[in-house]
Amino acid sequence: MNKMIIVSNRLPLQISIEDHHLKVTSSVGGLATGLKSVHKESNGIWIGWSGLTQEELTPELEDKVQEAVHKEQCVTVNLTQSDLDLYYYGFSNRTLWPLFHYFIEYTEYHPESWNAYKRVNEKFAEVVLKHAEDGDQIWIQDYQLLLVPALVKAKKPNISIGFFNHIPFPSYEIFRTFPKRKELLEGMLGADLIGFHTYDYERHFLSSVKRILSLEVNFNKVTYNNRIIKVDSFPMGIDYKKFKNAALKHDKQNENNKTEIQKRLDQHLQKEVGMKMVLSIDRMDYTKGIPNRLKAFEYFLRKYPEFQEKIRLVMLAVPSRSEVPQYQKLKQETDELVGRINGEFSTVSWTPIWYFYRTLPFENIIDLYTSSEVALITPVRDGMNLVAKEYVATRTKEDGVLVLSEMTGASKELNEALLINPFNYEEIADTLKQALEMPKAEQKQRMKALQKRVSRYSVEKWASEFINSLKQVHKVYSIIQAS
Ligand code: G6P
Repeated sequence: MNKMIIVSNRLPLQISIEDHHLKVTSSVGGLATGLKSVHKESNGIWIGWSGLTQEELTPELEDKVQEAVHKEQCVTVNLTQSDLDLYYYGFSNRTLWPLFHYFIEYTEYHPESWNAYKRVNEKFAEVVLKHAEDGDQIWIQDYQLLLVPALVKAKKPNISIGFFNHIPFPSYEIFRTFPKRKELLEGMLGADLIGFHTYDYERHFLSSVKRILSLEVNFNKVTYNNRIIKVDSFPMGIDYKKFKNAALKHDKQNENNKTEIQKRLDQHLQKEVGMKMVLSIDRMDYTKGIPNRLKAFEYFLRKYPEFQEKIRLVMLAVPSRSEVPQYQKLKQETDELVGRINGEFSTVSWTPIWYFYRTLPFENIIDLYTSSEVALITPVRDGMNLVAKEYVATRTKEDGVLVLSEMTGASKELNEALLINPFNYEEIADTLKQALEMPKAEQKQRMKALQKRVSRYSVEKWASEFINSLKQVHKVYSIIQAS
């Protein structure tokens, strides 16, 4: 029976070692939930890195990892500490991530990490080739694996390969600066279908293909090595029902089964009459515009002092890639900004910013979404931004206002949000005021339209549209081959 092979840097499992024992939980990330049914129903396999390096694993622990992943229809690609340093922290996150997010000054290029990236992409391709049979579909995910499509295509030309890029594709003028621009494009063009979140990323990619590789591009089709490759946009959604149902359950909670965070939120909101909550949730990443947001919030408190003691910014920053120096610098800058703003504006009964640097369980995220009048999402660059969609899904009373950066992929769909330029702190401050003062009727009108759109294009829909398109492309390709 033909199967689907999903390939991503991380498996949809979180595996860690605690007290010499293995701890395995399923991942709650968007990709893992979105592809769960495709993965299980098609009897497919998911290939990826377990999250542990070879050096961390004793033979007994390795057996346990294999047992755990096998149960979940997963296959591991083994990475050493050096692979992790050079391929993951190195080329993926100190080169490609900043390059694709327009942080050209952060983009490092070291031949050593490029070689490691090639070597690890080959490792992934080898595992794929070991499991792939004619008639299977292969779906490769994201910027860590840009070379895998071509490596697989070279060995199995008749197999159907899809590639999806979860981050922006930068404009040609940025991409052209990179020493390995040609190799990266050729790697991606091993796929039969290449997907992006938005039409703009698709356009940027096609422009780079045309100018850097001098290939023929016809609308969204590229002709390369006697093959036709389709490039298209598929905006990724969320598991809408999961978020909506969790929020509905939250609405029905009584005092006894409320989470600690919820009790604290209730206490504060009751005590501080008229207090409004403004929420932001992100990974601690320099693309998320965290300092810009804090500076805009500070400006807001100064420009509109009538809001002092009346609003609170609740900011959840999830630790991420903390071994990369720019992330450490950002953490320090954020700590200092929060300290400075709280130091300047706090009163005995009010702290303007509640700042959490940690991961929180799903129920607490729902507590935060449902208790916040405004979501303030200000990335300076973001492939999609699913937090914006999650906030929308949890607003069961059809109220709340989404303030969203126009630099996110999500802003292309969420037209009823209040869109801001994250570099314009005056605009952010004025828009925040507009959000806080928005009449209920207008909130409802906007939120209803947003909910309609976000619920329609769920993550399952995203996955099925990509897979159907891949099937279609392959059918056309087979007809051309046969004729
Ligand atoms: C982004 C990327 C994903 C990545 C995730 C978390 O969303 O597109 O590929 O998995 O960040 O980052 P991490 O480096 O922890 O995998």
